[in-house]
Amino acid sequence: MNKDDILVDVQNLSHQFRLGKKAYVKAVHDVSFQIKRNEIFSLVGESGSGKSTVARCMMKIYEPTNGNILYDEMNLCNKEEWKKNNKRIQKEMQIIFQDSTSALNQRMKIEDIISEPLRIQHVMKGKSELKNYVMQQLAYVGLDESFLYRHPSELSGGQRQRVAIARAFGMKPKLLIADEPIASLDVSVQAQIVNLFQHLQKEHDCSILFIAHDLSMVKFLSTRVGVMCRGHLVEMAPTRELFENPIHPYTKALLSSIPIPDPILERNRKILTYTDDTNLHDMVFAEVSPEHFVMQEVGCES
Ligand SMILES: Nc1ncnc2c1ncn2[C@@H]1O[C@H](COP(=O)(O)OP(=O)(O)O)[C@@H](O)[C@H]1O
Ligand SMILES: [Mg+2]
Repeated sequence: MNKDDILVDVQNLSHQFRLGKKAYVKAVHDVSFQIKRNEIFSLVGESGSGKSTVARCMMKIYEPTNGNILYDEMNLCNKEEWKKNNKRIQKEMQIIFQDSTSALNQRMKIEDIISEPLRIQHVMKGKSELKNYVMQQLAYVGLDESFLYRHPSELSGGQRQRVAIARAFGMKPKLLIADEPIASLDVSVQAQIVNLFQHLQKEHDCSILFIAHDLSMVKFLSTRVGVMCRGHLVEMAPTRELFENPIHPYTKALLSSIPIPDPILERNRKILTYTDDTNLHDMVFAEVSPEHFVMQEVGCES
């Protein structure tokens, strides 16, 4: 991978939560991946596999136990570099959560929800300039002016997620982290929101880290995919390669759980379960073909 193409470089990231004096949960273990400029990189894996912890470490919500996170060659884990650059980074990195009901302030009008970060970061000067900009952001996500004066509780789940997207993209981020942004929406609305992400990514020339617990929407959206299992990254490949040539049994199980639109094929679909208990700690993350990495036993060749 060309160094200039890399926006984010996550290096050997580990995070453990302290539960008591001697009790820990190892949520993320030695995870490394890169996000290129202008790409949509997806992280998938079942609930509890450590995806949100990775995202929260990248956003500096959690301090990693180990490892480094480089953003545009700045090391976010280095206290001095963070202090020097955090204002810029906080503007350039935006996050959207699964449930915007709790992420959006229920007492605020949509207009204020979208303009709040712009005001805090002094992106816009005049009042009317700000209002026009907010209306433009609403239009980009397919909502008309009447939404300016509504409150989140008056909106559907899909509309609320559109507001969260307008708020995030209004900041012109270089990296948008979307942590299961479609998980709580109906399937038809999911597809609309996925299309919106794709469209906005192209318009804004930004990178997106898209997090999902299954692979179904990821196929249409991402350039590359990383698969997480029990805190480890077990496979990573360009999307087409991952779907055509999955190697890790956990990836195969995830793929087998995607419904097929053809009724005959769907009837014959076999769902694989992953019950492997191999100790993931004695494994290496090996490149088996260009940009295709798989967690393998040491010395294993494929
Ligand atoms: N604040 C927390 N305190 C303790 N354990 C946590 C906390 N957040 C997450 N965990 C644990 O860390 C692991 C990974 O969680 P998470 O990153 O939320 O996974 P995912 O987003 O893939 O569902 C899980 O075992 C979860 O129970
Ligand atoms: Mg999560």
